[in-house]
Amino acid sequence: MNHFQRVLAATTPPGFAYKTEHSRQRIPQFVEHLGPDALILNLGSGRTAFGRRVLNLDIRPFSHVDVVGVGERLPVQDASLDAVITQGVLEHVPDLPATLAEIDRVLRPGGLVYHEAPFIQGFHASPNDFRRFTAVGMAELTPGYQVLERGVAVGPGSAMMWVASEYLALCCSLGNRTLLKVGRRAFPWLLSPLKLADAWLEGHPQADLIASAFYITARKPGA
Ligand SMILES: C[S@@+](CC[C@H](N)C(=O)[O-])C[C@H]1O[C@@H](n2cnc3c(N)ncnc32)[C@H](O)[C@@H]1O
Repeated sequence: MNHFQRVLAATTPPGFAYKTEHSRQRIPQFVEHLGPDALILNLGSGRTAFGRRVLNLDIRPFSHVDVVGVGERLPVQDASLDAVITQGVLEHVPDLPATLAEIDRVLRPGGLVYHEAPFIQGFHASPNDFRRFTAVGMAELTPGYQVLERGVAVGPGSAMMWVASEYLALCCSLGNRTLLKVGRRAFPWLLSPLKLADAWLEGHPQADLIASAFYITARKPGA
């Protein structure tokens, strides 16, 4: 690796998602409302942690991960959890129906799910990337459940920044891999102000046309 390649590898571009404080607080508040005795699973937790009460499961042993496992086969007893959280995970699981069936199996009657999933985002492997979700498609994740709340988790400004950055990097690469890498680091910095529009656009009544990500909170029937 030469000096230029080392600098390139060490340069971290800014994140593509701008979340308002309201949006950032959604999962912590979800956890808080469940009370101190609730059993909660953060499926595909990655590097996130929502406090001691939340069990973190991931396919990789990140620092906060309590259990290494897959969403398609949860090492959890039937009807034993009060809530399951997935944030930016459902696009990555190879078998979505199996994962949703597992979530339903481990949730107690009356238990809650929180799903957050992407709509307009670039390809991002973690370790792979299989699908996207529209606003109406989100409701299909919890058939038969009572939808408590749903909406835009990350707004159109963030979507625009992501897509435009990748587009400009592709155009300016002229087919060259190194130029593409440079562009994929430089353009997110240049276009970063676009995502700030989400301070306003996140709450726009038609933001779901091109939002970056949606969320849904729903209750399993039968309590
Ligand atoms: C984009 S990251 C999101 C991480 C975290 N939830 C967050 O919001 O920052 C997706 C995570 O899902 C995990 N993952 C991918 N496939 C999985 C599977 N089949 N079962 C469980 N976790 C999975 C990845 O290892 C990764 O940590």
